[in-house]
Amino acid sequence: MLFPEGVAIDGVTGAVTPATGRYVKKLSALRDLYAAPPMVDAFIAEHGDVDAYEVIEYRPDGSDICFGTTIMAPGKIGDEYFLTRGHYHARADRGEVYYTQSGEGLLLLHSRSGEVRVVEMRTGVCAFIPPDWAHRSVNTGGTPLVFVWTCATDAGHDYGEVAARGMRQRAVERNGRPAVVANPNYAD
Ligand code: F6R
Ligand code: ZN
Repeated sequence: MLFPEGVAIDGVTGAVTPATGRYVKKLSALRDLYAAPPMVDAFIAEHGDVDAYEVIEYRPDGSDICFGTTIMAPGKIGDEYFLTRGHYHARADRGEVYYTQSGEGLLLLHSRSGEVRVVEMRTGVCAFIPPDWAHRSVNTGGTPLVFVWTCATDAGHDYGEVAARGMRQRAVERNGRPAVVANPNYAD
């Protein structure tokens, strides 16, 4: 039987207490998602294989819903901001919510039919991710980007499509400011 409980979420560190799981993505694991993978190698040679982001989950066994936090380090590979892998949900009828707690970023999205959207991620903004939209977050600030996410437990992840084709948009720094540009390498 499931029982109610309060889960403390630290909006600055992203700590979830109690949590049921967590994982860390090293920058090296994201190498081929960037526009310039050799620049990832150069970054790692200079700074080490940093923790690019961490995901902490509250996913009780048998629950229909789950939530957690994502904590993204600040940084750039060339002019491209640190990013998450990006994915569709395995189930095409499952959306998601991202509620930014601290930091600054952009949520890049595209639909199966090729529409693109960008949602600003800043403290207090709750982003609605409709079902069957690919989504990737990027940290455009100088501090960690921390957001709470929540979705159905059975939403699942399909990473293959984005890994194979890329996202339609990239978030880059232009004249010291974040800009979103079309990804010339997107495999249409
Ligand atoms: C879950 C979700 C987030 C991301 C997390 C890391 O559906 O969207 O919890 O999983 O922000 O991003 P990915 O999974 O794209 O590496
Ligand atoms: Zn998702």
